[in-house]
Amino acid sequence: MSIAYDSRRKIFTLTTHNTTYQMQVNELGHFVHLYYGRRIEGTTEYMHVPRDCGFSPNPYPLRLERSWSMDLLPQEYSGANAGDFRLSSLNMVTEEGIWGADLYYIRHEIRSGKYSVSGMPSAFDRAREAETLSVTLREKASGLEVELLYGIYEKQDVITRAVRMINNGEKEIYLKKAASACLDISFGNWDLIHFYGRHTMERQMERVPIINGIQTVSSRRGTSSHQHNPFVILCDKSATEEFGDCYGMMLVYSGNHRTDVEMDQSGSLRVVSGIHDEQFSWKLEPGESFDTPEMLMTFTHQGLAHLSQIYHRFLRKNICRSRFARERRPVLINNWEATYFDFDSEKILNIARQAKEAGVEMLVLDDGWFGRRNDDNSGLGDWFVNESKLPDGLEKLIAQINKMGLKFGLWVEPEMVNEDSELYRLHPDWAMKVPGREPAMSRNQLVLDLSRKDVGDWLFETLSDLLRQYHIEYIKWDMNRSLSDVYSRILPPDRQGEVSHRYVLGLYRLLDRLTAEFPDVLFEGCSGGGGRFDAAMLAYSPQIWCSDNTDAIERLSIQYGTSFGYPISSMGSHVSACPNHQTGRDVPLGTRGVVAMAGTFGYEMDLNRLTEDEKRQVREQIERFHEYYNLIQDGDYYRLECEEKNHYFTAWQFVSPDRSETLVSVVITRPRINRNSICLRLRGLDPEAGYVVERQEFFGCHVQADRIPMGDFQKTKQSYSGAVLMYGGYVLPQMSGNYPSVQIYLRKR
Ligand code: DGJ
Repeated sequence: MSIAYDSRRKIFTLTTHNTTYQMQVNELGHFVHLYYGRRIEGTTEYMHVPRDCGFSPNPYPLRLERSWSMDLLPQEYSGANAGDFRLSSLNMVTEEGIWGADLYYIRHEIRSGKYSVSGMPSAFDRAREAETLSVTLREKASGLEVELLYGIYEKQDVITRAVRMINNGEKEIYLKKAASACLDISFGNWDLIHFYGRHTMERQMERVPIINGIQTVSSRRGTSSHQHNPFVILCDKSATEEFGDCYGMMLVYSGNHRTDVEMDQSGSLRVVSGIHDEQFSWKLEPGESFDTPEMLMTFTHQGLAHLSQIYHRFLRKNICRSRFARERRPVLINNWEATYFDFDSEKILNIARQAKEAGVEMLVLDDGWFGRRNDDNSGLGDWFVNESKLPDGLEKLIAQINKMGLKFGLWVEPEMVNEDSELYRLHPDWAMKVPGREPAMSRNQLVLDLSRKDVGDWLFETLSDLLRQYHIEYIKWDMNRSLSDVYSRILPPDRQGEVSHRYVLGLYRLLDRLTAEFPDVLFEGCSGGGGRFDAAMLAYSPQIWCSDNTDAIERLSIQYGTSFGYPISSMGSHVSACPNHQTGRDVPLGTRGVVAMAGTFGYEMDLNRLTEDEKRQVREQIERFHEYYNLIQDGDYYRLECEEKNHYFTAWQFVSPDRSETLVSVVITRPRINRNSICLRLRGLDPEAGYVVERQEFFGCHVQADRIPMGDFQKTKQSYSGAVLMYGGYVLPQMSGNYPSVQIYLRKR
């Protein structure tokens, strides 16, 4: 059993393979947090000693003893306006105008299997490995019941959390804040790691000290956003990739979110995370309930690489629903950067032909194939073929592509509408706008009100028709603006605060229906690149286009940051043309291939424009990718080095689960002359075993690989023990040139 309840001391202990999580109902009935961290036997109850503190109020029954305060006690789910001035997890207003929340334990239940969250994706449990603890608290003044849900995945060291609010009173309640989780950490010295960015520069990793006060990571853009990913890590100040205590908190949610980290007056930490409370309000009629999104939590004492590996495995196994998460996915070519809007069937067929020769397996037709879509000002909403570009229709084009031996994939952006479209002319009220205001435009498009059932139903029918009518094996689901002017014409005034969340629920409902109806279609998520790269979208699409920035050198830091939480198999990554369309930079084709292989791998260019030698290189890249496929998609991932820190190179490594193979990739971003050689300490190998360098390929080196002076150490077919490679290191020859790279493949003897 991974859940134990000590009824005498009212202590709950959740145990996973390497961690312990503990909480207690105290003598006044408050539900307090005791411990989350490395696995222990016994309890840490003794650590939370009673104490008084000036201006921290005492609960009424203890007003004379003044021995403790809600403002100092670690809580499982903090209230508001009831003696704790730190971050609240829950806030609400009753019909009488009473606001805040004062929560007391009333019951609990332990059951096998995993709870689910209503209307939103959450971790599943096909192997029936998980257990659920449900603890219900009652809000004193209103009758609101707050069910705290914990899912324990013992083997995987993951604890999931979600909260269900049930109005068991007789009057309406308005939720004003409903966090998914609160984590109080009483002791320690912590850094916060978060992932910030912008369009074309998503998920930049930043590690900052925790300061006195509150640090916030959030989005109010209606999506999880390019700017702040709904995932944070708290790690001990001394933690590295290899060692040290780290907590991960990842929201399974794609809409407005907010994570606050507060260091309070006594130096303790509180993290509260969930739906953003600004522009949020939810009316609960008597008998109604509301579920928060799920939070995936983990702890490890083994550093950041281990934390990432826990998330990678968990997301692949317990979040990604698609069968393709566990199957070999095709190497694709996408025409976007090859043609933008300027294409016809002949151009597409030419791209497909050349791609097929190189070994590509699927052609994806991107934006511009529908309505009157000749630039990005019109056509969104009209999901029928653009006959000026494809006069023979999609069916013929797909048949021709299939005949070449390629699968066919299609781009759509269902959540949007242009004013210049048939859909808008027919249903102007389906677009989100605030009455009396001109809406803010972005890419000259508006957002469809997906909180409306009729809009969702129409989209389901329209997209289903497309998928039924044509032989489409892949959908790229794009979303190219943030939500503003949030307002729904069919909701009453006191429910307008629900629209942003209802939008997300509508999106999930639509994706639930489509992915269930078309399980054989591979979905790739996208939002102007990686603007909606989150665990909830991974439930539907096992891969998400990582960024609209396809420059391999820029991708190094984007993919580096993304890898902290999300599996390599989920990162859409393509080789594109040079000079790169976003940065104008030239990077050797080989290096572009090495970087795109740390992802789903594909091409975003017209291969006809390559020289014969480059075409040969592309063929070889695809062959290599197939050979390394399992290692890359299912292997353990290690960040070895990062150019942000060393101003020299980035290196990463894949190790197969049985430690029999490893692939090391290195990209030099700033060649350093007269510096010591790069010595890479490999990770995750069997120290006792011998490993043979089966292949070592240099790309873009100024001096050709076969003429680089190589010591014996670096030659292929050399063999070393795992211990030598991990504790000594693998030394690279001097590499110079414009962004040279090397891939080294070693296999256990
Ligand atoms: C944004 C995507 O990220 C691109 O890959 C491309 O599909 C464009 N949208 C098309 O409009």
